[in-house]
Amino acid sequence: IPVTLLCVTVGYLIGSFPTGYFVARAHGVDIQKVGSGNIGATNVLRAVGLWPAILVVLADPLKALLAVLIASALGLGAWGLVLTGVATVLGNNFNVFLGFRGGKGVATSIGVGLALVPLTTLAALAVGLFTIALGRFVSLGSLVAMFSAIFFLIMGPFSAPQLFLVVTLAGLVIFKHRENIRRLAEGTERRLGVKTEHAS
Ligand code: G3P
Repeated sequence: IPVTLLCVTVGYLIGSFPTGYFVARAHGVDIQKVGSGNIGATNVLRAVGLWPAILVVLADPLKALLAVLIASALGLGAWGLVLTGVATVLGNNFNVFLGFRGGKGVATSIGVGLALVPLTTLAALAVGLFTIALGRFVSLGSLVAMFSAIFFLIMGPFSAPQLFLVVTLAGLVIFKHRENIRRLAEGTERRLGVKTEHAS
């Protein structure tokens, strides 16, 4: 238990590293005041540019991979790895360094997923990217991907910790997309490729 607690705490702290916030700030942009106000790669793409966004979308999953790798090296079992992964996403989403205003946990969840449920994650990622290509709403693609991840997981052999992981991450992504869901329903959600200057 103490090792699990240590890994969960370290996972939370690693997840709290606000990649998007720093990358945008390096370009002179206060990411929380532009576009959707989110610190994620989507908003960095919108408000800063393609390469900074690519950096964030690669770095955020790496945070999760690093946390799970540390937990694995310390000998944690399936539940310990899952709890560490969830803690990393919680750190990303409810960031202690940003007054608990963090990201939406999509890229970080991809990292946790690649480490712990790789095939499910790859399949869900493909569905998400396809959805984004169709509608150009990253938020919708993220939501569809999380639902499809649950579907793909239960299609094959799976364990209780894996089911807990995927359902929890899907729940967190849905919770963090409350505003996006409202905008999608109202028809006011931002599409990829449309630049905005004001946070809302
Ligand atoms: O990964 C977050 C994405 O699904 C939505 O981001 O900035 O459009 O709220 P954003």
